[in-house]
Amino acid sequence: MEEVKVFAPATVANVSCGFDVLGFCLDHIGDEVIVRKSDTPGVRITRIEGQDLPLATKENVAGVAVEALLEKVDTPFGFEIEIIKGIKAGSGIGSSAASSAGAVVGVNALLGEPFSRKELIAFAMEGEKLASGAAHADNVSPALLGGFTLVRCGKKPDVISLPAPAALYATIIHPKIELRTADARSVLKKTIPLEKAIQQWGNVGALVSGLYTDNYDLISRALVDVIIEPERSVLIPHFNELKTAALAAGGLGGGISGSGPSLFTLSRGEEVAENVRQALIKCFEPHGIPFDTFVSKINAQGAKII
Ligand code: HSE
Repeated sequence: MEEVKVFAPATVANVSCGFDVLGFCLDHIGDEVIVRKSDTPGVRITRIEGQDLPLATKENVAGVAVEALLEKVDTPFGFEIEIIKGIKAGSGIGSSAASSAGAVVGVNALLGEPFSRKELIAFAMEGEKLASGAAHADNVSPALLGGFTLVRCGKKPDVISLPAPAALYATIIHPKIELRTADARSVLKKTIPLEKAIQQWGNVGALVSGLYTDNYDLISRALVDVIIEPERSVLIPHFNELKTAALAAGGLGGGISGSGPSLFTLSRGEEVAENVRQALIKCFEPHGIPFDTFVSKINAQGAKII
């Protein structure tokens, strides 16, 4: 095999209560990453379509992720990478994670799969570090593994795949303003009051339990973020209005997707998710800010070779 093309999906990180630890994978929307063997050692980004992002390897999330991978293997050849951006950078649905994940999946395939999908997470996280200043795994894990994932942080992190109830759908609205993850992280306080921490870890546990037991009511009650959302939501125009409209249309719950500006809502069934989408359009259209919306099933597969 001399060349592969990878579809690397968009993802929702945090999932309200699980800042930096929870995430899930979306369908249809994603980047395409073409990886080709080259006689010149190392990695070069040769083309980026759809967005103005740096080609220089060390300034590009995919380049940095692949360099981290290549440090761990002996290979006589190098790699050229082309990225077709389907996800807008700074949109909050895992743009940098998708490019990083797609690139390491492609290189790993051309090397004969020396690494498992879980092992690729550490390499893709180097891309996240470049993009946001923090090597968080809550987008790259679902991008690489699919479904819902939970990251237990630590010296030896655990990445745990969680089940998703079959009828769970996500509705995304992307207000087209750019919100850089690094900026959205810089507004966060470094300490949290104990009473908020208690509420938040109860919600994380309850959300995980709800996913395992198909308990939509518990999922709904658990989709509450008392720590990050109050600080970040002020950066997103009409956030409260949008969230209220989504819940009134039947959504189970939701909030900021990743670091924003996109919002996600989880619903039971595709019809409710579509009702939520229509309600979000009705709510946001009058404000005159360009936006996109879509409905997605939870993508169980993650990045795939196409
Ligand atoms: N957990 C990260 C954050 C996700 O919220 O900053 C960024 O996409």
